[in-house]
Amino acid sequence: MITLKGIHKSYGERDRRLHVLKGIDLSVAPGEMVAIMGSSGSGKSTLLNLLGLLDHADEGEYLLDGKEVGRLTENQAAAMRNRKLGFVFQAFNLLPFKNAVENVALPLYYQKVGRRERNKRAEHFLELVGLSERRLHKPNELSGGQKQRVAIARALVTDPAILLADEPTGALDSQTTDDIMDLFKQVHGMGKALVIVTHEADIAAQTERTITLKDGRIATDTAHEPAHVSA
Ligand SMILES: Nc1ncnc2c1ncn2[C@@H]1O[C@H](COP(=O)(O)OP(=O)(O)OP(=O)(O)O)[C@@H](O)[C@H]1O
Ligand SMILES: [Mg+2]
Repeated sequence: MITLKGIHKSYGERDRRLHVLKGIDLSVAPGEMVAIMGSSGSGKSTLLNLLGLLDHADEGEYLLDGKEVGRLTENQAAAMRNRKLGFVFQAFNLLPFKNAVENVALPLYYQKVGRRERNKRAEHFLELVGLSERRLHKPNELSGGQKQRVAIARALVTDPAILLADEPTGALDSQTTDDIMDLFKQVHGMGKALVIVTHEADIAAQTERTITLKDGRIATDTAHEPAHVSA
């Protein structure tokens, strides 16, 4: 469903130019659960942002479900994102003045889904992530793990085939990290593809495939059995 060919990405101008991705070839199949690792500054977020149509590559091809999406306009990219992709970030990125249901329902607003249906679907996904009883609370009234559950519900509410997560457990303690990983495994069980950027080897071990970035290229790409961590 995702195919990258010869992707290059640099930041900055002329002599200050930083060549971050130097020829990335990568495919992700439907339903695959993949981890991306690499040292700080190796280009993990840059790669995830390209996959998420949040930024353009300088060179190379990006096929999403067989369609070239690397050169879409802002509006086209936004529409494609809204339909096909879900995002989860380290810092949750929830709207502070909206409660959990409203945060989860927001992507449906952009799809022009009516209010009643939006709320119904949002409640459904909050229940799925185990947060029904906190549904009317605002982000500052929720713990880090609860905020991330809201963010995951929001990522799922449009029923995307692919979830992209940039260090989703980076701000969480180890118990909460295990809970969120269990939730990701459940999402994987729903048949969705997941691409998770992480610094932690034991998180990568719980996926099916680990890719490491080094010096702007894919250094390793290894399929493995997912390790089971929690009881
Ligand atoms: N918008 C930008 N403008 C200029 N340079 C950038 C920009 N975004 C990232 N960079 C640089 O590109 C390189 C790769 O950054 P990136 O955020 O992709 O790394 P990362 O692997 O996600 O690192 P971390 O593990 O610290 O999150 C870094 O050297 C960073 O400073
Ligand atoms: Mg990063």
